[in-house]
Amino acid sequence: MERTPHRIAVVPGDGIGVETTREAVKVLDALEGHGALRATLTAFPWSAEETLRTGVAFPADAIDRLKRGFDAILAGAFGDPRIPDMSHAKEILLGMRVKLDLWANIRPVRCLDDRLSPLKDWGARDIDFIVLRENTEGAYVGMGGVFREGTPEEMAIEEDVTTRRGVERICRHAFETALRMEKPRRLARSPRVTLADKHNVQRFGGGLWHRTYIEVARGYPACEASHLFADTLAMEMVRNPASFDVIVTNNLLGDILTDLGAALSGGIGLAPSGNVQPGKVSLFEPVHGSAPDLAGKGVANPIGSILSAALMLRHLGEEAAALRVEEAVTACVRAGETTADLGGKLSTGAAGDAVVRRL
Ligand code: NAI
Ligand code: MG
Repeated sequence: MERTPHRIAVVPGDGIGVETTREAVKVLDALEGHGALRATLTAFPWSAEETLRTGVAFPADAIDRLKRGFDAILAGAFGDPRIPDMSHAKEILLGMRVKLDLWANIRPVRCLDDRLSPLKDWGARDIDFIVLRENTEGAYVGMGGVFREGTPEEMAIEEDVTTRRGVERICRHAFETALRMEKPRRLARSPRVTLADKHNVQRFGGGLWHRTYIEVARGYPACEASHLFADTLAMEMVRNPASFDVIVTNNLLGDILTDLGAALSGGIGLAPSGNVQPGKVSLFEPVHGSAPDLAGKGVANPIGSILSAALMLRHLGEEAAALRVEEAVTACVRAGETTADLGGKLSTGAAGDAVVRRL
């Protein structure tokens, strides 16, 4: 039976985002060539360049077009020294994250080769878990204000917003994700979910997180539900990374813990992410930014973008194609067929070609 092609919007953005997204598209095209995927890719020019040329960062009808015409979005990175206040990046990226209500930020932490592990006692077998960060509320909602600004009496309030609905859906997603993971099966133990919060000192928002988590966990008796305070969890990520399957946490703590995670996996150049609402058009992007210091030099690592495309394929139900991409990337990393940040000698384009060859 003919499959309906997946409709994918591609938004490369700025700087190295353009270069790394090109390699991810190359990999998707190669999968199509092998008959392993059916997809139509449509490029959108939203970027600093386009903003400076037209005066418009993100067209008014963009969200509507994405909602009606696409199944997923593959994005690069946004940020350009010519727009120092980053207003275009906020409009485009936050526009998509907030207006599409992409409430789950998925950040897999997987070390692909022992050589890349920054930890003396832990390697690729051990560093393999997923952080789920609540993506739409918490300390990043921009509520608050300043009083007596610029005076010695200046006072600022930054609100931290937690809703039961917001916590419940991300906790549920954490347990669903743990149930689907291969790692606990390989280790012949129950899938583990760990909540990171600070409900010892943040009694109201933290308390709501903790109570809701315990309630949701009751619906998943096959999973082991545990809890660590976020500071202890940061320590355990370094002391014993093998003990985690899925970590679920709020927006601010997740922001910090996932950068630690990217470092554990071998560096920012290979970390992928998804901004997801299950069953709805969702956005996949590398964790890194537009790296103006590398832009145009052909040296950026494309693996973060390529693994983001793999996450996108999994979201679209193409598990086999996603695994195929991840295995090709792992083989390249183990063979040293990488860009310089991972110790290899390849250009961005040659690193993408190497992944395509190993598909
Ligand atoms: P960055 O991630 O662009 O760069 C941080 C460091 O990592 C730099 O030394 C860079 O050379 C290196 N690096 C990043 N990606 C790499 C790759 N693929 N291969 C090899 N090395 C890589 O973060 P930075 O410098 O803080 O921000 C640069 C611009 O990107 C800013 O305008 C910032 O606002 C924006 N940004 C955008 C993000 C997004 O679109 N999601 C995320 C983070 C930053
Ligand atoms: Mg961050």
